[in-house]
Amino acid sequence: VPDDFDLFADTTVGDVRDPYPELAAARRDTPVLKREVYNAQTFMVFRYADVGEVLRDPETFSSTIYARGVEMVMGPTILGMDAPEHVRKRALVAGAFRRKALETWAHSLIEPTVHTLIDRFVPRGEADLVREFTFRYPITIIARMLGIPPGDDQTFARLSIELISLAVDFGRGMAASRALGDYFKDLIDVRRKEPEDDLISSLATAEVEGRRLEDEEILGFLRLLLPAGAETTYRLLGNLLFALLSDPPQLEALRADASLAPAAIEEALRWEAPVQFVARRAMRDTRIAGVDIPEGSSVTCSLGSANRDETVFADPDRYDLARDAAHHVAFAEGPHRCLGEHLARLETTAALTALLERLPDLRLDPGDRDPHVHGMAFRSPTCLPVRFTPA
Ligand code: HEM
Repeated sequence: VPDDFDLFADTTVGDVRDPYPELAAARRDTPVLKREVYNAQTFMVFRYADVGEVLRDPETFSSTIYARGVEMVMGPTILGMDAPEHVRKRALVAGAFRRKALETWAHSLIEPTVHTLIDRFVPRGEADLVREFTFRYPITIIARMLGIPPGDDQTFARLSIELISLAVDFGRGMAASRALGDYFKDLIDVRRKEPEDDLISSLATAEVEGRRLEDEEILGFLRLLLPAGAETTYRLLGNLLFALLSDPPQLEALRADASLAPAAIEEALRWEAPVQFVARRAMRDTRIAGVDIPEGSSVTCSLGSANRDETVFADPDRYDLARDAAHHVAFAEGPHRCLGEHLARLETTAALTALLERLPDLRLDPGDRDPHVHGMAFRSPTCLPVRFTPA
C-alpha cells in the first residue's frame, strides 16, 4: 500500500547521483558561469570564497529574487526580504530558535519522538530508516513546535508533503497551500484568544511597531517553517546515516566515542549539503572573481560545490568525521543564514544518539536495493535498509 512517503519519494526533483565531478570541473574551469535564460542573465558561482562574498553582501546581492516564485506559493516570507524589513520580521521568530530556548523541547518533545519512532521497528531487527524514521521525525517535531494538535498530524503531514512536492504537481501543491492556509487560519483565531506555549501563539500575539501581524504574514511564516524545518533535517539525518553506515570503521569510532557526534554532523552537512543552491539578485553592476555581473542578473550559489572546494577542505569527496568542517556553508551565510540550524543539530544529535544506543550492530543490508544519495536541488538517500539485533 503506498503511503505518504511514496507520494513524497517519487517527487524528488532531479535524480542525479553524483554531481560532484562536474562541480569540481566548474570550480576549475568556469568558477562563475554565465548563462542566458529567456533573455535574462544568470550566473552560477561555484567556489567557496566567491559564494561567501555573495552571501555576506546583501546590499549588492538581494534576496528579493525569491519574492515571485516562493511567495506565489507561501505568501510573503522572510526568505525573500531584504533589510530593514527582514531584520524586523526575522526577530519575531528568532527567539524561539535560539539554542537556549530549544533546550526545553529537547526533553519534552525531541527525545520522546525519537524513541516512539524507534519503538515501532526495534522488535523486527530490520527497517528502512528513511521510510520509517528520518522521513517521519522532523515533521512531527515542527508540528508540535508550531502548535498543531497531535490528532491533526496525518492531515498536516499529507498537506505539507503535497506543498513541498509542488515542483512536480503544481496544481496539487497550490491546493495544499490553500488548504494549509484555511487550516492555519482557524488555529490562529483560536490561539489569538487563548495563547499557548507554541509558535502559532507567539506569532498570533506578536506586535511590530505597535501593529499585530496580519493573518497572511503569519501564514507566510508557517508555510515556510514547514519545508524549512521538515524537509531539510530529514535529508541531513539521512546523509549522515548513509555516510556512517557505508563506512563501518567510522561508525564504530563514533560508537566508541560519543564526543565525536558534533563533528560527525558538521561533516555530514559539508559532505552532502541538503540544500544545494541559494539564489540572489544583483542590485547594481558588480564583479565576482573578475566576471562582470550586470544589475538585475540572478546569481545562484552552489553550496554543494563550495563545501567540496579543495582549496578549503582537503580530499573533499571523502566523508571524514575527524575533519574540522564547521566552516561549511550548508546553512548559507550572512543575514539569511539558516534560522533553524540549532534545531537541526539538536534533532540530529538526539536521533543519532538514540539509534546507536538502541540498535546494537546496526548495519546496512541492501539486499536487492541500491541505497545511494541522490537529487539535484536537494540531496538525501533513496533508502536505508538496515539490520540490527532486535530488542
Ligand atoms: C539540516 C537542516 C537545514 C539546512 C541544511 C537548512 C538550510 C538553510 C539555508 C541554506 C538557508 C538560507 C537560504 C538563503 O539564504 O537563501 C536557510 C534559511 C532558513 N532556514 Fe534552514 N536549514 C535547515 C534546517 C532548518 C530548520 C530545522 C528550520 C526551522 C524550523 C529552518 C528554518 C529556516 C528559515 C526560517 C530560514 C530563512 C531565514 C531567513 O531568510 O532569514 N531551517 N536554511
